[in-house]
Amino acid sequence: LPDVPSPALLVDLDAFEANVTAAAKMLEGTSIRLRPHIKTHRCPSLARRQLIRGTIGVTCATLAEAELMVDAGIGDVLIANEIVAHSHLDVVARLASRARVAVAVDSLAPLQELSRCCTELSAQVDVLVDVDVGLGRCGVRDPEAAAVLARKVVASPGVHLRGLMGYEGRLRRSNPQRTARVELARTRLSQTKAHLEGVGLTVPVVSGGGTSTLRDALSNHTLTEIQAGTYAFMEADLCGLGLPFTPAVSVLATTISGSGNRCVVDAGWKALGCHYGDPVPIGVAAKVVKIGEEHTVLRLHCSRDASPGVGDRLLLRPSHVGMTFALHNRVWLIRAGRVETCVPAGVYAHGGSW
Ligand SMILES: Cc1ncc(COP(=O)(O)O)c(C=O)c1O
Repeated sequence: LPDVPSPALLVDLDAFEANVTAAAKMLEGTSIRLRPHIKTHRCPSLARRQLIRGTIGVTCATLAEAELMVDAGIGDVLIANEIVAHSHLDVVARLASRARVAVAVDSLAPLQELSRCCTELSAQVDVLVDVDVGLGRCGVRDPEAAAVLARKVVASPGVHLRGLMGYEGRLRRSNPQRTARVELARTRLSQTKAHLEGVGLTVPVVSGGGTSTLRDALSNHTLTEIQAGTYAFMEADLCGLGLPFTPAVSVLATTISGSGNRCVVDAGWKALGCHYGDPVPIGVAAKVVKIGEEHTVLRLHCSRDASPGVGDRLLLRPSHVGMTFALHNRVWLIRAGRVETCVPAGVYAHGGSW
């Protein structure tokens, strides 16, 4: 990759495509659909490549991401998060004239505001009532609160009740409460669904789950769609869960200093998402000693001949893919070690309409 200026974010397309296909295979023969969470990459070009058979649109965390996807021509977008500002709800309603749009709701005032915005624009936005299934973040806390909100959706013009959503958070292999947390999420969603249906409401969609619970979701007959995102790139943090995914993301760095068994590369916190641990050098026996904003210092465990010299390049595997993408505004798509194309990523360069 001689012409790629470092630090650069690389996606190995063979690994990415194999992950996308492997996820589709996992869902084959089930009625569960995948709605890839694009907050992981915020890159329309990658989103389009994820929308293969078995997928039904994308999941977003923010309005900016939703707008980015709709502007890129993606026709079915779920904002799996609460949107409350009037100016933002107005944009949600406007997006609905160009795509099928749904949003999560867990309180009344934003729902009423959304209904007003939609009515003014003769738009329709679908709503998923967000249920706290154990993460302790957003979401209503009990089935009756969900029913109160769901009835309001049904009674409000411009909005349509699509169903429920509940995200349990990342449940790692090492979490001793993993089994209990998976079960808690399942029962909270199924009980809430049953409660809503018991009061005469229709709940066609129950959306939730992530990469760490993708396998569990297959035997959980409550979810109708899964919001996994990291699956397409994999992370060491998700190892041990029996997932058929391989790492697809690396950061290209250049050695800018070094002597003896030390080398310093030009990628630090501003190029590598380190939230789940230090980055791991690929193909060179080395360990991270320290990281700064623009630097990573490595201790080399290889012979002098195999050690990178000043100007040599190496690849680092970041621990947190979503945060790594958020640090770059373009991504180099690589196949068999060669650049296939370079595409924009990120919501900041794209801008927003509000
Ligand atoms: C609401 C929601 N759904 C799904 C996901 C996807 O999780 P993952 O990237 O681990 O697949 C996330 C990630 O944080 C999320 O916040």
